[in-house]
Amino acid sequence: MKNLSNAAKAAMQKAYAPYSNYSVGAAVRGSNGEVYSGCNVENAAYPLGNCAETSAIAAMIAGGEREIAEVFIMTKGAKPGTPCGGCRQRLAEFASADVLVHCALEGGEVNTYTMGELLPHAFDLKEQ
Ligand code: THU
Repeated sequence: MKNLSNAAKAAMQKAYAPYSNYSVGAAVRGSNGEVYSGCNVENAAYPLGNCAETSAIAAMIAGGEREIAEVFIMTKGAKPGTPCGGCRQRLAEFASADVLVHCALEGGEVNTYTMGELLPHAFDLKEQ
């Protein structure tokens, strides 16, 4: 898990978050073993900003992987941040319900959830 947490930390340190001042780093391990990371990228037109998880998923897809095996998200603040609702759905597109999502503070507390805990009853077009 160390390489995943290091990748999330490095991405968090590169976040572009001048409006919220809340830097987030995300790293996903693909089923191929490769680690892909991303950070939040804000914009003066606030709704155009991207979450860190979205950036990490984009890096994974561009790298040719389509299956997430593990997720690590790093934030600052008083307690580890959890993925927003939209990012839960984005992660669920590529991660099965048993995939572990580690939410951590830099150098501290780590809370681990499964995808199924974070997004029960995820929308899946195949099941409609
Ligand atoms: N943010 C993420 O990067 N991931 C989340 O799951 C929650 C929120 C970012 C978006 C914005 O740049 C900042 O955190 C404050 O909302």
